[in-house]
Amino acid sequence: MRTYLVTGGAGFIGSNYIHYMFKKYDNEIRIINVDVLTYAGNLENLKDIENRDNYTFIRADICDKEAISRIFEENDIDRVVHFAAESHVDRSIKDPEVFVRTNVMGTAVMLNCARAAWELPDGSYKEGKKFLHVSTDEVYGSLPDDENAFFYETSPYDPHSPYSASKASSDMLVKAYMDTYRFPANITNCSNNYGPYQFPEKFIPLMINNALQGKQLPVYGDGKNVRDWLYVEDHAKAIDMVQEQGRLFETYNIGGHNEKQNIEILNIILDTLQEMLPENDPRRKNVSRKLITYVSDRKGHDRRYAIAPDKIKKEIGWYPETMFKEGIKKTIQWYFENEQWMKNATSGDYQKYYDSMYKNR
Ligand code: NAD
Ligand code: DAU
Repeated sequence: MRTYLVTGGAGFIGSNYIHYMFKKYDNEIRIINVDVLTYAGNLENLKDIENRDNYTFIRADICDKEAISRIFEENDIDRVVHFAAESHVDRSIKDPEVFVRTNVMGTAVMLNCARAAWELPDGSYKEGKKFLHVSTDEVYGSLPDDENAFFYETSPYDPHSPYSASKASSDMLVKAYMDTYRFPANITNCSNNYGPYQFPEKFIPLMINNALQGKQLPVYGDGKNVRDWLYVEDHAKAIDMVQEQGRLFETYNIGGHNEKQNIEILNIILDTLQEMLPENDPRRKNVSRKLITYVSDRKGHDRRYAIAPDKIKKEIGWYPETMFKEGIKKTIQWYFENEQWMKNATSGDYQKYYDSMYKNR
C-alpha cells in the first residue's frame, strides 16, 4: 500500500485533496496528514474521514526538523504532497516574517528530511519516491490587461508580495534540490482556487458570508483586477495526475482559462445567491448590490493572473471538469449547508483580524 505524507491537510486545498484521494483510491492508499493547525487549519474539514484505518493525523510544525524526520523514520513514506504554507497575501503584507519561516524554512526542512529518508549511498533514490511541491501562479508576478498574455512554465519569476516572494523562494529551493541532488520532485503552479472549506479571509467565501449577513462587500481598488478561478477538486485531480503521469523534475502550470475581474465575480455571487436562496429565507433581503463598497487598494496589488495550462493538457491530459457557473453554485450550496462551520471559522480571532484589516480602508 502506498503511503502519502500530506502537509497542510487541514487547510482548504489540502483537505479537499485528502477527500479526493480517498474517494478515488479508498483503501488502496494510506495518508498521513501533518499540520500544525494555524488559524487556517481546521480538523472539522476532515471529520468524515478521521476514523479511517488508513488515515493518520499528526500535529507538527514543518519547521520542526526533529518531528518531521521522526515521521519519515517511523513511516515508509512513498509520496510527499506539500501544501503547508501561510497562504494569504494581505496577511503577508502586515506580517511577512512568518511567511518566510513557514514557506521557505518549512520547505527546506521537508526537502531535507525526504532526501535523508529516500537517498541511497550511490546518490540515486529508492524506487517510486516522489515529492510534489504545491505552488502558485503568483510567483510569475502580474500580467497586463491584455487577454493574449499568459503565464507559461517558462515565464520569469517576478513576485511582488511577501507571500509570493516566499513561495518563489520555496520553488527555487525545490529546483535546487532537483538540480543538485537529482531529488525526485515536481512543482505545480496553480491559479486561484475556490470551493468548500475555504477560509473566509479569501475573496469568494468572504463575499458569500458578508452578503448573507448584509455586511459591506469590500472591493479593493477599481475591482478590475483579474484572477483565473479554478474549482478546488480540479486542482486536487491535477496534483494526483502530475504525480502519476508527470515527468519528474518538471514544473506544470494548472489553471482553467477562467479569468474574471473581481467585480464580475462579485456580481455573479450576488446573482447566484438571489437565485438559490428560497423565497422565504430571511437572508434574501440582505443580498444586494448596494453592499458593494470600493475600499483602498491592496499594496502592490497584482493586476492580472492568467495561466496557460497547455503543458499539463498536452502531456498529461488534465483539463478542468467544473465550469465556473456550476462550481460557484456547488460552493454556495456548501456554505448554505455548513453555516456552523462558517460560524466557527469566523468567531474569535477571525473577528479581530477582520476589524484590523478593513477598519481604515
Ligand atoms: P490554507 O491557508 O487554507 O491552509 C494552509 C494549511 O497549512 C493550514 O491547515 C495550516 O494549519 C497549515 N500550516 C501552516 N503553517 C504550517 C506549519 N508551519 N507546519 C504545518 N502546517 C502548517 O492554504 P490553501 O489555500 O489550502 O493553500 C495550500 C497550498 O496551496 C499553499 O502552499 C498555497 O501557497 C498553495 N496555493 C493556494 C492557492 C489558493 O488559491 N488558495 C492557489 C495556488 C496555490
Ligand atoms: O493565484 C493563486 C493565489 O490565489 C494563491 O497563491 C493564494 O494563496 C490565494 O490566497 C490567492 O491569492 P489572491 O490574493 O489572488 O486571493 P484573494 O482571495 O485574497 O483575493 C482575490 C482578489 O480579490 C484579489 O485581486 C484581491 C481582491 N480582494 C480580496 C479580498 C480578500 C478584494 O477586492 N477584497 C477583499 O476583501
